Amino acid sequence: MNTIIIYKGKYGATRQYAQLLAQTLNTTSVDASVTDDAMLRSANIVIAGSAIYIGRLMISAWLHKHKAILEQKQLHLFVVCGTPLSDQQAIKTLIDRNIPAELRHNLSLFFLKGRMIKENLSFKDRLLLRMGAAFTKDPEAKNNMLRNFDEVKADHLTPIILAVKSSITEPPEHTPNMKNH
Ligand SMILES: Cc1cc2nc3c(=O)[nH]c(=O)nc-3n(C[C@H](O)[C@H](O)[C@H](O)COP(=O)(O)O)c2cc1C
Repeated sequence: MNTIIIYKGKYGATRQYAQLLAQTLNTTSVDASVTDDAMLRSANIVIAGSAIYIGRLMISAWLHKHKAILEQKQLHLFVVCGTPLSDQQAIKTLIDRNIPAELRHNLSLFFLKGRMIKENLSFKDRLLLRMGAAFTKDPEAKNNMLRNFDEVKADHLTPIILAVKSSITEPPEHTPNMKNH
């Protein structure tokens, strides 16, 4: 079975997770901006990785563009984020806003804590972060939004690796299988 990893991020955490996964699964990781249809068609299992910014998955447009091909594949999606979602309603909202309806029935979804180093952010992203914090009422959540973190760790990939390995032998799920780490 052919597995391919496609990712889209901004500051390197998503790329790093994609590369770690590629090493473990002995496959390749490719930036979403340089994929082509032939590359996708040759894969049976597609692992998509995306950073999230203000509730938007960076890979959302790519998922919409390639949904006709992706519908035929086993799709795993890992979201690299600051706050992994655990509330089912919040997860549903994220899916509704970012993932084409055609891909939702056959999707396993994972949340991985990523990295944010304020000094590395663009002026615009620093501003967005400050604005987001200004609109957040809960003081602890506000502080967390503004605090640097680096949680990129190979160990966090274990649930995805297990799911991918089992999808090689099992038929696809018919309901979204949501997991987070
Ligand atoms: C402006 C800004 C907005 C963000 N918005 C969210 C968000 O809505 N939800 C979340 O969980 N994390 C959010 N994050 C955290 C990023 O998803 C996290 O830093 C991730 O690791 C970025 O991945 P990358 O390095 O591949 O770009 C935000 C970070 C910044 C700088």
